[in-house]
Amino acid sequence: MKLTVYTSGYSQEVIKLFTDVFTDTEGPKEGRVIGQLVTELIGTTDSNDLLGYISILDDAVVGCIFFSRLTLPGGKIAFILSPVAVASQHQGKGLGQQLINFGIQQLQTHGVELVFTYGDPDFYAKVGFVKIDEDIVKAPKNLTYPDGWLVQALNSEDITSEAGAAKCVEALNKQEYW
Ligand SMILES: CC(C)(COP(=O)(O)OP(=O)(O)OC[C@H]1O[C@@H](n2cnc3c(N)ncnc32)[C@H](O)[C@@H]1OP(=O)(O)O)[C@@H](O)C(=O)NCCC(=O)NCCS
Repeated sequence: MKLTVYTSGYSQEVIKLFTDVFTDTEGPKEGRVIGQLVTELIGTTDSNDLLGYISILDDAVVGCIFFSRLTLPGGKIAFILSPVAVASQHQGKGLGQQLINFGIQQLQTHGVELVFTYGDPDFYAKVGFVKIDEDIVKAPKNLTYPDGWLVQALNSEDITSEAGAAKCVEALNKQEYW
C-alpha cells in the first residue's frame, strides 16, 4: 500500500473510483452526483485551495480523499474533507482511516489549523473529529443534518466563535451536498 499526493494524471481513475463506490453504497444516482462533484472539484478549484491524496495497491488507485479550502471570517486556515472513498472490495480493512490520517498529517505540514467535515459523527470520531455547533462556526450552506458538522483542530488553540458563515469552494457550494 502506497499513500501519495493526488495529481491530475490520476483524474479519470479517481472520478471512476468515486462513481463506482457511491453507486455500490447509495445507488447509481448518487454515484453520478459524487462523480460529478469530484469532476468539478478537480476541474474548477484553484490548486492552492485543493489537496488530494490517494492509496495505491498493485498499481491501482483503491482510495482517494480531497480537502478543499474553507474560508473562515476570522482568518484561521481551514480545509474541509470531502469526499473520501475506498474501493468497495477493500472497505472495512482500515484503509479509510489510514488515508484520512495521512491526509490530515499532510494538511498539518501545509499549516492548516482546522479541518472540517460533514458526515457520520461515529465514523469520523475514529479519526479525531468532534461535533461543532453552528453558533461557533456556521456552515457554508443550510445543514440537513446539523449533527454531521464536524471539526478537528490541528494546533492546540481552542476553536473560537466566528462571526459569519464559512465559505467553501465553488464545486461544493450547492445545497444538495449539505
Ligand atoms: C467511509 C469509508 C471511506 C471508510 O473506509 P474503510 O476503509 O471502509 O473504513 P476503515 O476500515 O478504515 O474503518 C472501518 C470502521 O469505520 C466504520 N465505517 C465505515 N464506513 C462507515 C460509514 N459510512 N458510516 C459509519 N461507519 C462507517 C466501520 O463500521 C468500521 O468500524 P470498526 O473499526 O469499529 O469496525 C469507506 O467505507 C467508503 O468509501 N464508503 C463509501 C463512501 C462513503 O460513505 N464515504 C464517506 C462520505 S464522503
